[in-house]
Amino acid sequence: MCGIVGYIGENNCVPIIVEGLKRLEYRGYDSSGISIIKEKEILTYKKEGKIYNMEAILPKELSGKIGIGHTRWATHGGVSDKNAHPHLSQNGKISIIHNGIIENYIELKKKLIDEGYTFRSETDSEVIAYLLEKNYNGNFEETFYKTLQQLEGAYGILAICLSEPDYIMVARKGSPLIIGIGENEMFVASDANAFLGYTKQVVYLEDYEIAKIEKKQYITKNFRLESIQKKVNTIDWDQTALDKGDFSHYMLKEIFEQPESIRRAFAGRIIQNIGTVKLGGLNLTPQELFNIERVNIIACGTSYHAGLVGSYVIEELARVATRVEIASEFRYKNPIIEKGTISFAVSQSGETIDTLFAMREIQRKGAKVLGICNVVGSTIPRESNGGVYVHSGPEVAVASTKAFTSQLIAFYLFATLIGRMRDLGQFRGIELVSEIEMLPNKVQEILNNSKYIENIAEKYTKLDNFLFLGRGLSYPVALEGALKLKEISYLHAEGVPAGEIKHGPIALIDKKTPVIFIMPDDHLFEKTFSNMQEVRARGGIILSICNEKNVKKIKGIADDVIVIPETESIFSSLLTIIPLQLLSYYIAKNLGCDIDKPRNLAKSVTVE
Ligand code: F6R
Repeated sequence: MCGIVGYIGENNCVPIIVEGLKRLEYRGYDSSGISIIKEKEILTYKKEGKIYNMEAILPKELSGKIGIGHTRWATHGGVSDKNAHPHLSQNGKISIIHNGIIENYIELKKKLIDEGYTFRSETDSEVIAYLLEKNYNGNFEETFYKTLQQLEGAYGILAICLSEPDYIMVARKGSPLIIGIGENEMFVASDANAFLGYTKQVVYLEDYEIAKIEKKQYITKNFRLESIQKKVNTIDWDQTALDKGDFSHYMLKEIFEQPESIRRAFAGRIIQNIGTVKLGGLNLTPQELFNIERVNIIACGTSYHAGLVGSYVIEELARVATRVEIASEFRYKNPIIEKGTISFAVSQSGETIDTLFAMREIQRKGAKVLGICNVVGSTIPRESNGGVYVHSGPEVAVASTKAFTSQLIAFYLFATLIGRMRDLGQFRGIELVSEIEMLPNKVQEILNNSKYIENIAEKYTKLDNFLFLGRGLSYPVALEGALKLKEISYLHAEGVPAGEIKHGPIALIDKKTPVIFIMPDDHLFEKTFSNMQEVRARGGIILSICNEKNVKKIKGIADDVIVIPETESIFSSLLTIIPLQLLSYYIAKNLGCDIDKPRNLAKSVTVE
């Protein structure tokens, strides 16, 4: 979703900001722009579409020492040059960029219009620039504080002022902002990826915090204007992790990284000889772990699907009642959080606004929330009471792949840990952790077969309206497989519990309907096999994901079969999803889709 980059220092800000915006492209956007202070004016260039459209209108000699840049994902007002950020004040002396939504903008805009201001865009954001102009008293810092008091809603704002060109004013309320500290230069961005090539020293702003950023220093305050001392953190991702290497897309690279990312998710956390797990980041004493009576999981999208898998695994291994809810629904309920409940907020980005707000609501009710997150230092892990970092490394493609499998590992580890405190004995524990350690090699085996999946994908590229069916631990995989396909190929796909098809979806099946059956060799195999026969009887085109053991049986009915290695059935979801990620990828590639940046989607969903 919208990206923010700001720079002040001794170097030319233009290439730094443009490069930073490109680093944030993966988050999704539909227009971009930049403002720089150049002697006696603020120069602003903005354009609908990809960043190269905006780059194409930048004068070759353009340079400056202070500037702000933005990638916009439209909310208020259509996708157009005029609605792109930055927005200038009417007199052109102030420029702002904004992520989030100004909820009272209609009323503010009306007042400003009554006072004679003429607006140029349809956005909510433009009122910020106009208010700053109206409130300006010769001290931009003070003006900025005053203006914030008039704004309702959520924001990450950067503002620069022609008359005071030595600093950028910054405020955060609900939309992430990170300061990067360089030598005689400072960066500020909505995502540290924007400036990782320059510095790894960062300061995370929290909600209700403001910063004045100068070339050599930054001053941070809270909304009561009290100075606050912020911790400087070091980011350990390096720039190479952000490169595509020899892969044609980030998504393919990330799919192929999974043996390694899965290994990182359990590295140092397994105690082999006693068949258990240590998760120090949970910040819970053994007694507190022992006392857990219920688990509550909140998440969105792919992370929600990981949570669903987690609920099956926790109930099975630990015998603890577990519920999973979509965060955007949960946050507006008046949820019942019973005593003894521990909650998990699952999020790759750690910034998803619905998950964050659901988490805060649980904490307001006095309960603890643990994060299962990938992006180190992001808001959810910072505000959570503890958690598990999954260490997938940067996930650039909008469609989540490696974060999903690492989230599953986090749940496998947690379920084993809690299970060992309850019904699981040492030998069972050893079996489980040994199997977890084998998973990366098994994923690699599937990846080695990618050519075969690529060939199968050709036939399925010509089809539409996919059904993905699975039972038990394969049901969340069916949902995730369908989500992957629809988001990157724009083909309609639906994930359904296999046992539910008779209650409606079977009406869809005819000779043109592709049906993907996820049916590892578990106790539900025969049940799903019966559903497969029902689909065959109606002429559906069947692709089955199964184990070698059942291939012979299935081949008589299915059109195509993808074989996955054997594993303990409790871990099957982590293997069955891999061919579905590849299948989606190859179908989207055959269709010529923009795989890493699918239309309308954003990597980090920071508006509700
Ligand atoms: C799907 C996808 C989204 C995210 C969802 C939650 O491929 O990427 O569905 O899973 O927006 O994002 P996080 O995990 O960052 O909270």
